[in-house]
Amino acid sequence: MTKPAVRVAVTGAAGQICYSLLFRIANGDMYGKDQPVILQLLDLPQAQAAVGGVVMELEDCAFPNLAGVVITDDPKVAFKDIDAAVLVGARPRSKGMERADLLSANAEIFKVQGKALNEVAKRDVKVLVVGNPANTNAYITAKSAPDLPAKNITAMLRLDHNRALSQFAAKAGIATADIEKVAVWGNHSPTMYADYRFATANGKPLPELINDETWYRETLLPKVGKRGAAIIEARGLSSAASAANAAVDHMHDWIHGTDGKWVSMGVASDGSYGVPEGIVFGVPAVCSGGEYEVVKGLPMDDFSKAMFEKTLNELLEERDGVAALLG
Ligand code: NAI
Repeated sequence: MTKPAVRVAVTGAAGQICYSLLFRIANGDMYGKDQPVILQLLDLPQAQAAVGGVVMELEDCAFPNLAGVVITDDPKVAFKDIDAAVLVGARPRSKGMERADLLSANAEIFKVQGKALNEVAKRDVKVLVVGNPANTNAYITAKSAPDLPAKNITAMLRLDHNRALSQFAAKAGIATADIEKVAVWGNHSPTMYADYRFATANGKPLPELINDETWYRETLLPKVGKRGAAIIEARGLSSAASAANAAVDHMHDWIHGTDGKWVSMGVASDGSYGVPEGIVFGVPAVCSGGEYEVVKGLPMDDFSKAMFEKTLNELLEERDGVAALLG
C-alpha cells in the first residue's frame, strides 16, 4: 500500500538553488524512494510564471513519488499542513545596500513566514532556513512562531560541514566517508569555525593524520569560510547545486537519523556552550527517530574559545540588529 504523501514547502522556488533542490526532493532524496511528496512552492508574485516553468520540468521528469505541486505567492497557502519547509527565498544584497538594511529586509520576510508557519503548518513541522543570513533568519522565524517548538526551526551549516569534510579528505588522501566527528560551530558566514579536534578517520585522530596545524589554521579555515565567494568569483554565480545538496543532506539526516554520526546543524541554543538561549548556532548533532541531539560537553582550548567568541559575537550583533523589528 502507498504511504500517505508528506507535504514539503519550498520558498524561493524560481531561484537558482531550487532549480536543483526541487528535483532532488521530487526524486525521493530527502524522504526516501517509498515516500510520496507534495511540493508546495512559494515565490514572489513577479516570479510565479518562472515557477510555472520549473513545474513543467518537474512534470517532464515523471518522478514516481511526486504526488502533487502547489504554486503560490501566499505563505499561508504554501505552509498549510506541511511536514517540512526549506526556506530558501531571501532578499539578496543589492548594490549600495548596507548590512543593516539587508538584515532588516530579511527580518521582515522571515517574520511574515514565521507567523504563517505558526498559523497553518503541522505542529511537528521540520524547518530548515537556507536564505541568508540563515542563522538570524531562523532566529526570527522561531521568534515569530511561538506555538511551534523552537528546536524544529534550524539553519543550514551543512554546506560548511561538507566543504570542510572534502578539504580534510583531500589533504589526508582519504575518502570523505572515512571521516567522522567534524563539527562546524557558529554562524553560516566566514566566521564559522570548522573544528577537527575530535575528528577521526578510520579510527585514527584526524589532526594526527593531517599533522599540519598551520595548514588547518591558515589554509583550511579561511578556505571553507570564503568558499562561497570563491565560487562566485569563478562561476559568476553563487553556489547552488552544492547548497541544494547540503539542504537535502540536512533534512534527510534529521528525518532518517545518522547512526550515531555527527552532522553540523544550526539550532536554537538551550544555553549550552555559553550560547545565549534562542540564538541559532551551528553545533555538532546526532539524529535519531526524527529528532536531533546536540553533542554536549566538548572541551574548548584557547584557540577554539577565540574562534567561538568571534562567530558568537557576530550572531549577537545580528540579533541586536533585528531586535527592534521583533518588538
Ligand atoms: P536566487 O536569487 O537565485 O533565488 C531567490 C529566490 O527567492 C527568487 O526566486 C526570489 O524571487 C525568491 N524570493 C525572494 N523573496 C522571497 C519571499 N519573500 N518569499 C518567497 N520567495 C522569495 O538565490 P539562490 O541562489 O537560490 O539563493 C537563495 C538564498 O540562499 C540566498 O539568500 C543565498 O545567500 C542563500 N544561500 C545559503 C547557503 C547556506 O549555506 N545557508 C548557501 C548558498 C546560498
